[in-house]
Amino acid sequence: MSYNLLKGKKGLIFGALNEHSIAWKVALQAVEQGAQIVLTNTPVSIRMGTIDQLAEQTGAVVIPADATSVADLEKLFDGAMEHFGGKFDFVLHSIGMSPNVRKGRTYDDLDYDFLTKTLDISAISFHKMIQVARQKDALNEWGSIVALSYIAAQRTLYGYNDMADAKALLESIARSFGYIYGREKHVRINTVSQSPTPTTAGSGVLGLNDLMDFADRMSPLGNATAEDCANYVLTLFSDLTRKVTMQNLFHDGGFSSMGMSRRAMQLYGKGLELEYRDISKH
Ligand SMILES: NC(=O)c1ccc[n+]([C@@H]2O[C@H](COP(=O)([O-])OP(=O)(O)OC[C@H]3O[C@@H](n4cnc5c(N)ncnc54)[C@H](O)[C@@H]3O)[C@@H](O)[C@H]2O)c1
Repeated sequence: MSYNLLKGKKGLIFGALNEHSIAWKVALQAVEQGAQIVLTNTPVSIRMGTIDQLAEQTGAVVIPADATSVADLEKLFDGAMEHFGGKFDFVLHSIGMSPNVRKGRTYDDLDYDFLTKTLDISAISFHKMIQVARQKDALNEWGSIVALSYIAAQRTLYGYNDMADAKALLESIARSFGYIYGREKHVRINTVSQSPTPTTAGSGVLGLNDLMDFADRMSPLGNATAEDCANYVLTLFSDLTRKVTMQNLFHDGGFSSMGMSRRAMQLYGKGLELEYRDISKH
């Protein structure tokens, strides 16, 4: 439903690969709420994914950029400003990739060149895009920048690997740059820590289905979907959240505040019964 929350606003959205991408849902809903958008992704992802369909649906242009390349980001921000005819209001960083996860290297056997790539793609790219935006003075006063994070930045979750370190760095960059950009231009910078979600990046996480089931049982409101996430992100781009900055905001149905839920306890109990039964057979 449109509340015209983003009427007159313009924004740049990184990370829409296909219809499952969280960035895809943000793009659709931003336009529904009255925004104009520019979409971007790497040339390879543009070729392999379906971003052109999204561009058609939303009337957006697509400007290719590798978010780890400052030269690409400079061209991208220039291109977006040219397209919009001036400064714009919001940026979404929805980017994550770990070569260690992809190649099955565990956390106690990391390839360090891969780790450098994980950090560059999944976290330092956030610093790069904010630095380029600020140097080009690309954002309007009271603009809003959001990146997507995960609770593995605070707590250890089996199988999340070096992405946990990348998310911790990502959240720290939001605080460090949030101070500078807020003080100077009232631009706010936050991260949204989302429930596990079935997307291309999500499916790289070891045992995603089990993790999603566990998180759902633990969360009083259940897991937040990609659409739910987009709704929340839109409020952060809107003028209704002007004084929220330098925060990591959990959007996870309550998961982050839980220790044990009845639904998880019941399943755990059943598992134990099975285990006892197995033991009594021997
Ligand atoms: N899916 C989940 O369970 C989950 C949970 C919490 C947070 N997140 C975060 O949400 C964000 C979006 O992921 P998603 O789940 O929508 O998956 P996705 O695979 O749809 O999106 C990841 C995007 O990163 C882009 N990307 C990779 N390398 C890039 C580079 N060098 N430059 C520019 N773009 C690059 C990919 O092309 C892709 O579009 C990520 O930061 C992810 O860590 C996902």
